[in-house]
Amino acid sequence: MVLAVIKLGGSVVTDKEKKGVFRREVAVAFFKQIKGMREVVLVHGGGSFGHPVALEYFRHGATIPLGISEIHRAMVELNSLIVDVALEQGVPVMPFPASSIFVAENGEIKECFLDPLRLSLKRGMVPLCYGDVVADSARGFSILSGDSIASALAVELGAEYLVYCIDKDGVLDEYGLPIRLLTNRDQIHKVRTIPDITGSIEGKVREALKAAKAGVKTFILNGLHPERLSMLLEGKEVIGTEVRWVG
Ligand code: IPE
Repeated sequence: MVLAVIKLGGSVVTDKEKKGVFRREVAVAFFKQIKGMREVVLVHGGGSFGHPVALEYFRHGATIPLGISEIHRAMVELNSLIVDVALEQGVPVMPFPASSIFVAENGEIKECFLDPLRLSLKRGMVPLCYGDVVADSARGFSILSGDSIASALAVELGAEYLVYCIDKDGVLDEYGLPIRLLTNRDQIHKVRTIPDITGSIEGKVREALKAAKAGVKTFILNGLHPERLSMLLEGKEVIGTEVRWVG
């Protein structure tokens, strides 16, 4: 069976300009596409729920336990809004907070405990993970982005596809047009980049490259046109960026 790991960007499903604003209609359109899919693992980002709270508490590089709880709660809040839409659309999602299945070391994933997620997938559920604060063996806690979670899951689960859904038509060139193919030989640091607490499009491409290197077919698409996602998984050509590893 073809397994796809799909990351729904926070910029797609929330209004990044307005704190705590969920774009319900966008989530509905997304889950309408997910409904027909067989084996899929979803990951969502933080958008205007997780990021402002994370910024508030991580401003000085570290945070207090209450801050950790606040960040996690913001993510749970967004997660439950997404779960509501999924259920309404008939998609049997099962949330797996990253804080419960990953351990980080200096901000990078070091260990993962995926048995419950694997079994749920086997039993016909759609695992739904999300960016989160996770225990870090070197420095207390760190924030794991949905990008790194999606890439790690794609590699660990041996996915055929990894798709990042963002609010643009892919990684854009200097004219604002999607770059069709990015590889490890390209100068990734030159892609247009807007940093936030967990990185930028450059960070996303770096995470994407890790999966591509492991043989996962990896793409960055516009989640505001979710039909492209279905088309891609059906093997059709779509507007977007493919991220490929060349040896
Ligand atoms: C952020 O996850 C998670 C937290 C802020 C806790 P992402 O970095 O994947 O979120 P988006 O997709 O960029 O919004």
